[in-house]
Amino acid sequence: MALFVCKNCGYGAASWYGKCPDCASWNTMTERPDFAKDSTGKKESVKKISITSLKQIKSQASLRMPTGVGEFDRVIGGGIVPGSVILLTGEPGIGKSTLVLQILKNIKTLYISGEESGEQIKGRADRLKIDLDKFLFSNDLQIEGIIESASGLENKIEVLVIDSIQTVYSKEIGGAVASVSQLKETAKKLVTFAKKNKVAVVIVGHVTKEGEIAGPKTLEHFVDTVLNFEGEKVSNYRLMRASKNRFGSADEIGIFEMTASGLKQVDDPMVFVEEKRRFEPGKALIGVASGKRPLFFEIQTLVTPTVLAYPRRVVKGLSYNKVLLLLAVAQKYLRIPLDRFDVYANVIGGVSVEGTAADLGLIASLISSFKNTPVPGNSLFLGEVGLLGEVRKTFLEEKVIASAKRLGLRKIFASGNIKNVQELMKLFR
Ligand code: TYD
Ligand code: MG
Repeated sequence: MALFVCKNCGYGAASWYGKCPDCASWNTMTERPDFAKDSTGKKESVKKISITSLKQIKSQASLRMPTGVGEFDRVIGGGIVPGSVILLTGEPGIGKSTLVLQILKNIKTLYISGEESGEQIKGRADRLKIDLDKFLFSNDLQIEGIIESASGLENKIEVLVIDSIQTVYSKEIGGAVASVSQLKETAKKLVTFAKKNKVAVVIVGHVTKEGEIAGPKTLEHFVDTVLNFEGEKVSNYRLMRASKNRFGSADEIGIFEMTASGLKQVDDPMVFVEEKRRFEPGKALIGVASGKRPLFFEIQTLVTPTVLAYPRRVVKGLSYNKVLLLLAVAQKYLRIPLDRFDVYANVIGGVSVEGTAADLGLIASLISSFKNTPVPGNSLFLGEVGLLGEVRKTFLEEKVIASAKRLGLRKIFASGNIKNVQELMKLFR
């Protein structure tokens, strides 16, 4: 049975299509030789597998290379593991290339850039006062060539950086540079290279605010670690989160500030909260535990009468489905007629909040906007809200509350003093 594969998205089918059933592009399906046959066209014979004692294999994780940038090391679990593949994603201009130079300054690196010239990278390194003794550089972008040359460097490199995956290409498959099939093929080759040569690979990938489904997100399955760099270019604070981590926990968060001399580490848990907090209607302060560390964010919600048959729901920084669920809870248990209102919900600072601790704060900001009444000054909300409107305890709640008290927050609303969303409503009378 021959397999037909789409050059654009990599979709495979048993028969040929003029239009790819998956990505809908035309004339992109090409025939691939049968997988079960070797290059001579003969059926593959039985191959004995090679068996090793796992006990004898040295754990790669024990060979971690700390980068010296504490916030980064903490997020990835202590340092870069040789032979691991890290995908670093973020919007253009957020600071990915800057971060790469800063974390690799003491590590032997081959830096492949399809985005910038050697002069530009040298300029940036000068600005960051990083000496480039440990960096090798190339602007050449064919993946087969990159891998062959990098393999030839043997012990001269510990990390290979591809900045960005959207600019490299494989000669072996068709499809435009940065098409999904190119991204997957180049990423697969990099993974094989990393494992074989025990060289860590850092793949930089641009994503847009909308998350660009067909972009680097499709690579998440291939790599060991996915790091997302978030923030708004207008604000200087950046949040780094591991959305996948084979060599560490995936819930640690790193915070950085982009300064004139590069990214600086930040440990203030209130960085994403406006300094002079005004208490306009629709705004609520929330506390969450990220990893073992309490962090505070502001949620804004805007509730406005709709002119549409299906009211609009626009969500940024929170899970869309979770917000829909909370709106249904508010509609039913608070009798807020949300079917007649558009709702916009946002986390300030261009960052996203994960987990359940934001639920109560979202409902507080929603009531606040609907009633056009600010939440009581200096109050903090943390709690999961269930489908029956009940408030539940969240991860490391005591720890977040203790930290909030230290920061001078006095009115703290959580499962201990708010049993359900109806009780929350009373704050706005
Ligand atoms: P960059 O790392 O090039 O972003 P990315 O690789 O994600 O596209 O950084 C982009 C921005 O950071 C750019 O607008 C300049 C700014 N910047 C600083 O503010 N300070 C610095 O020290 C450096 C190197 C960059
Ligand atoms: Mg860059």
